Amino acid sequence: MRLVVFISFVVLCLSFSVSINARKLVPAMYVFGDSLVDVGNNNYLKFSILKANFPHNGIDFPGKKPTGRYSNGKNVADFLAEKVGLATSPPYLSLVSKGKAFPITGVSFASGGAGIINTTNKDPDKLIIQTIPLSKQVEYYSKVYQDLVRQLGSAKAQHHLSKSLFIFVIGSNDLLGYVESGSDLPMKTTPQHYVDSMLMTLKQELKRMHGFGARKYVVIGAGPVGCAPKTRSESNDGDQCNEEANQLAIKFNKGLKPMLQGLGSELNGLVQYSFIDEYNVFSPIIQNPSTVGTSTYFLKKLS
Ligand SMILES: *[C@@H]1O[C@H](CO)[C@@H](O)[C@H](O)[C@H]1NC(C)=O
Repeated sequence: MRLVVFISFVVLCLSFSVSINARKLVPAMYVFGDSLVDVGNNNYLKFSILKANFPHNGIDFPGKKPTGRYSNGKNVADFLAEKVGLATSPPYLSLVSKGKAFPITGVSFASGGAGIINTTNKDPDKLIIQTIPLSKQVEYYSKVYQDLVRQLGSAKAQHHLSKSLFIFVIGSNDLLGYVESGSDLPMKTTPQHYVDSMLMTLKQELKRMHGFGARKYVVIGAGPVGCAPKTRSESNDGDQCNEEANQLAIKFNKGLKPMLQGLGSELNGLVQYSFIDEYNVFSPIIQNPSTVGTSTYFLKKLS
């Protein structure tokens, strides 16, 4: 296989799925990330206060009940799964706690509050906020991988995984951790160094995933995190976006593409990846929120 930069990969899936709704375009989807894609893992973290399994989360979700999604309805993980003709991959911890088998169509490891860096949302001087950092998500995936190899045998498992999508939506919490009030990170490291260490850690984890059969990566860049409601509410300047946080997100997104290209060549072209620049998808919505329904707009922009 050769290196294919297919930025439009998901875009293609999205437009095809209009006509062939129920057909699976990929055999499985494995999801890694934070609250943007958590479909319920944090419900199973006993001591975590970073949960969303209470109203009004879920009011627009089928069944109208909170599920652990940080959303009134479906989230990006649900929409992406729908568009490739799969059921949403269930949360890893729900499967483990109920003693259920890992479905062949994928598992989700995403956890609200999670970061690329282990210590994000884990300040020992503050409340212990429990989340599943990326390194731990990858470790959990390795167990699913071993199970798949046991079930299918190595060759079939590798083949299955080589066609599967590995979705990564992570980084926002690390970026917010740098700029939040009381953070000592700006005294320890420059914004560029911080973003570089995020990118390096992400690259290491993506490489580790390659050892566990991953070949098709979809990496979604950071959005305008400085305009998140919580960040705006902390503004001294009346709900303004935090420009420092937004600049950090832009730096991170800028570094993602070369990082992925570097990964591709280090792995001898044995990977395909797509990078979705969420920043440019969401910015117009934030600037002009009354004109669009967010999720519809998000998908329209992608397709
Ligand atoms: C992050 O945590 C994992 C264990 O979960 C550990 O193996 C890894 O070395 C840690 N990374 C850093 C940079 O400390």
